[in-house]
Amino acid sequence: MDLPKRPNVPYKELENIFENSLNQLKTFYILKSSIDLKLYDHLKGYKSFKEVSDMVNLKSILTYYILEILNKLGLVEKKDGLYKNSELSDLYLNSDSPYYKGKGFILITEKINMWENLINTMKSNIKKKDNNHFPLIIQVMGENTISGDLYDVVELISNLDEFKKAKKFLEIGGGHGFYTIALNHIKPDLEAFVFDLQNVIVETKKYIEKYDSKVKTIVGDFYKDSFGENFDIIFSSYNPSGKNPDIAKKVYESLKMGGLFIIKQNFPSENECDGLDELLANFEWNLTGLTNSKKGKRAFTFEKDLFFNDYIVFLENLGFEIIDVSKVNDLSPFANATINDKVIIAKKVG
Ligand SMILES: C[S@@+](CC[C@H](N)C(=O)[O-])C[C@H]1O[C@@H](n2cnc3c(N)ncnc32)[C@H](O)[C@@H]1O
Repeated sequence: MDLPKRPNVPYKELENIFENSLNQLKTFYILKSSIDLKLYDHLKGYKSFKEVSDMVNLKSILTYYILEILNKLGLVEKKDGLYKNSELSDLYLNSDSPYYKGKGFILITEKINMWENLINTMKSNIKKKDNNHFPLIIQVMGENTISGDLYDVVELISNLDEFKKAKKFLEIGGGHGFYTIALNHIKPDLEAFVFDLQNVIVETKKYIEKYDSKVKTIVGDFYKDSFGENFDIIFSSYNPSGKNPDIAKKVYESLKMGGLFIIKQNFPSENECDGLDELLANFEWNLTGLTNSKKGKRAFTFEKDLFFNDYIVFLENLGFEIIDVSKVNDLSPFANATINDKVIIAKKVG
């Protein structure tokens, strides 16, 4: 048998793709193990790798390389051969910190299970429902909000004259309720409500209690139930209602004349982008479903959603005047937002 001829394309090209993916995966598992081992709880002060290896019960050579890798990632500082948390890991990975991202890791672990069994996940006729995960998702988003855009968004809203005069405030799909809790702290005479699904409101109430807040809750499904009436401000942040014309109409009906609808939302660009990150996000979006509404095909979109320009025209036709549109990233240096995330302030005028 003859040897095959020299191939036209070198194998190295494929090998690079495998190597890069594998190294990302290895880095991810080093990160995950360091969190599961509570390494950052042990590294509040400088320690030798031998001390750390005794504390986490790992071979010292493996501990040494984990610490060196974490040092390269900026999560561990090294001085005179000793290691301690960097400012970043001390804030977000040390479990004593008020900014600890504990729930975020649980969600990541759930995602890994979905990806590890990808063929099963793709072929399964029973799509995993995101609704069952909303209670966890909102805890993760609560962690992100507290270390993210909370302070800047609250500043934006609380500086509005309409807020200073407001009596009745509603946040739809508010989840953790941090925006409303913070706004109610600034303006204690405000009657403030968070509207969300029943299983989520259970979690909202825990935060309301934790932060000694007077915020009230409304259990409901925004596709089916009414919000109530006579609100001065209705706020909506990153939830399935934020680009939906039917819900905008409902909001319009629930606002007083002169009232504000403030929407913080991701609006996808009209042309589908083809960057790897976006394609991966769109793919993952389609692995799971919702019980009470249908998802769109691109990440963070839902059936009936309008693109940004069409949504603005729809709001104007309903009787809103657009007072302001800002990019979330410009608004807050802490925002975990993409370039298409916007805050729209619309006033009911007609
Ligand atoms: C991605 S979270 C956003 C949480 C929070 N607003 C934030 O910006 O961090 C989406 C929220 O919308 C709520 N939600 C989803 N579908 C809903 C529905 N049909 N009716 C009411 N709330 C809903 C979820 O329970 C969840 O709290």
